[in-house]
Amino acid sequence: MFDRIDHIGIAVPELDEAIGLWRDSLGLELSHREVVAEQGVEAALLDVGENHVELLAPLGPDTAVGKFLAKRGPGLHHVAYQVSDIDETLEAVRQAGLSLIDEQPRVGIRSSRVAFINPGSTGRVLVELVQPHAAVGVH
Ligand code: CO
Repeated sequence: MFDRIDHIGIAVPELDEAIGLWRDSLGLELSHREVVAEQGVEAALLDVGENHVELLAPLGPDTAVGKFLAKRGPGLHHVAYQVSDIDETLEAVRQAGLSLIDEQPRVGIRSSRVAFINPGSTGRVLVELVQPHAAVGVH
């Protein structure tokens, strides 16, 4: 069902400071930066081979990541798996009896289609499904 791990999402209070750690201290290449209004974040993607670290800074305290930071502090937020057909995958996840946060895909970074599975169904690990935009393809 999952093609590969696409990225690991990390919640951070301040994006530039976090880029300083991951790019400048740890040597990852910053490949993309974008405000994803639909998810209430400013995000940065840094490359690790074909995969990414996704840094997520909240646009405000009432966003999902803002609430996560207030409750749990900075750190690992989610693991994202790439899928080729997110509608099919969502249906399979539903059929397996897991609870979804997103019943329908929504717009993610780089015009991807994304959906989250309820962590109550996945051992408290927030799982994101990502179908890349056709024009972007596999990275
Ligand atoms: Co993500």
